[in-house]
Amino acid sequence: MDIRAHDGALYEWEGDVLALGVFEENLTRSEENKFLHPGLAELDYVMGGVLGELADEDDFTGKLGQLSVVRLASSKIKRLALVGLGRANNVMDAVYASDSWRILGFTAARIAKQLKMCSMGLAAMDTNLMDESSKLVAVESIASGAILGTYEDTRFKSEVYSLMDSMLAKFEKERINLEMLSIAASRKAKPSKLTQVAVMSLGTGSDRDEALRRAVCITAGVIVAKQLVAAPANVLTPGALADAAVSIAMAHSEVLTCTILEKVDCEALGMGAFLGVANGSDQPPKFIHLKYCPPDGVVYKRVAIVGKGICFDSGGYNIKTGANCAVELMKFDMGGAGAALGAASAIGALKPKGVEVHFISAACENMISGKGMRPGDIVTAMNGITIEVNNTDAEGRLTLADSLVYACRLRVDAIVDLATLTGACVVALGHEVGGFFTPSATMAQQLETAAQIAGEKIWRMPLVEQYKQTLESPIADLVNTSGRDGGSIKAALFLKEFVDPGMEWAHLDIAGPVWNRKTGTATGYPVRTLVKWIDQQQIVAGVADS
Ligand code: BES
Ligand code: MN
Ligand code: ZN
Repeated sequence: MDIRAHDGALYEWEGDVLALGVFEENLTRSEENKFLHPGLAELDYVMGGVLGELADEDDFTGKLGQLSVVRLASSKIKRLALVGLGRANNVMDAVYASDSWRILGFTAARIAKQLKMCSMGLAAMDTNLMDESSKLVAVESIASGAILGTYEDTRFKSEVYSLMDSMLAKFEKERINLEMLSIAASRKAKPSKLTQVAVMSLGTGSDRDEALRRAVCITAGVIVAKQLVAAPANVLTPGALADAAVSIAMAHSEVLTCTILEKVDCEALGMGAFLGVANGSDQPPKFIHLKYCPPDGVVYKRVAIVGKGICFDSGGYNIKTGANCAVELMKFDMGGAGAALGAASAIGALKPKGVEVHFISAACENMISGKGMRPGDIVTAMNGITIEVNNTDAEGRLTLADSLVYACRLRVDAIVDLATLTGACVVALGHEVGGFFTPSATMAQQLETAAQIAGEKIWRMPLVEQYKQTLESPIADLVNTSGRDGGSIKAALFLKEFVDPGMEWAHLDIAGPVWNRKTGTATGYPVRTLVKWIDQQQIVAGVADS
């Protein structure tokens, strides 16, 4: 898909479908049923009154995500689509309203794809009232939405009429060489018809073009995460996840290097907690370490992103049973690793200055076998802490324990870990919101800002120190679980034991938002937040504009 900007007037654009974002307020009309809004009135006039008819017929009120399409007879534009943006003050007055803009791009691209349109123009009313930075957020979000709107995961369909556009097909081939990720290319893949997208009426110049370029890079990273998370566990083994990391590094070899630690290497490092979980599986564990170095090698800030990489979580001997355990979805238990690798792919393409980033994941499966960890076993983490495993289903915190110790030994300045860690977090916050924990006010502020710009919802949860005593073991240093109450807090407190005192650290529980149960697809959450957070690090380092 070729996404670019178009500088001329709206009705000078020629193409298959013009999608127009409209605010609820724009739709008020006079007694003669004419639009009061001068822009809409003009457009309605140019289009021979079709806009008014459209608004009437479909009862189009401009509610966010509402869509109304009409065919235009004898026009350079074949179809006109109105897309609701909601109330203007929700979008214009909010510092960042990337969600609404992304919905505009997504909704328009979806319908353009369904109608087999080749070219699409995207614009919105009243953008002249926006300041420059809001316009850049809008451009980036609209473009990102448009890419996601045409994306469809056809890798596992036997009859592939792929609507995946050529950009993504190319992306797949170049960056992810895995067999499982190129299935689409090997079948009867038909490229999406929507190849030309023009974003209009949102500023001019190099900043805007840069925002479009960023959208392409970041959204490609989101798609990497979606594909990794949605791939089933019989395809996406720990080995395949490691291969994906290597492929991502190869695609950006000037800035990314990848090291895979094998089981023996992990043994030598004393990763007893990670290997305890991995033991029950026939699939060999892989410890993934992907490193980003800026092209000029100048580094002011060093950070690590650590992702939980359980390719399948059966629960182990504390097997997941019961109607609501969703064991069939537990392929998504590497959602943290998927997001980390998605972010790595985006960062490899964007090449931010002044910041070094380590992407880390201890990848394995949590299975049952004669070699599997028993409830009650005691394992020793890389930092020497002993853990009584009173529940084998609390495996993520065990693999993360060793990952966090490893990250701390890199002497980075800050660590963010991401994990589909607790069902309790889903109970607390639902499927739209990730819960994050950090002792650092700075990290909290940075992540909240990053998530807000990214349009991904996160909510800070408390690290209640009193609950730590529930993690005391009569026989070892710690137990890995203690009751359902405050489950995600206790999990976070457990992780904190493996982070050096004074290390800037945040833990993000993504068990809810990593998967969309309505559509049955992975969301790519929170790749955009991670990329924005890494971006902030270069601002902190004071090199953003150099
Ligand atoms: N991967 C699960 C967490 C999970 C559960 C994510 C449901 C998404 C939906 C994790 O490994 C797990 O099993 N956690 C247990 C912890 C408990 C044994 C303390 C849980 O949440 O039930
Ligand atoms: Mn589990
Ligand atoms: Zn798990």
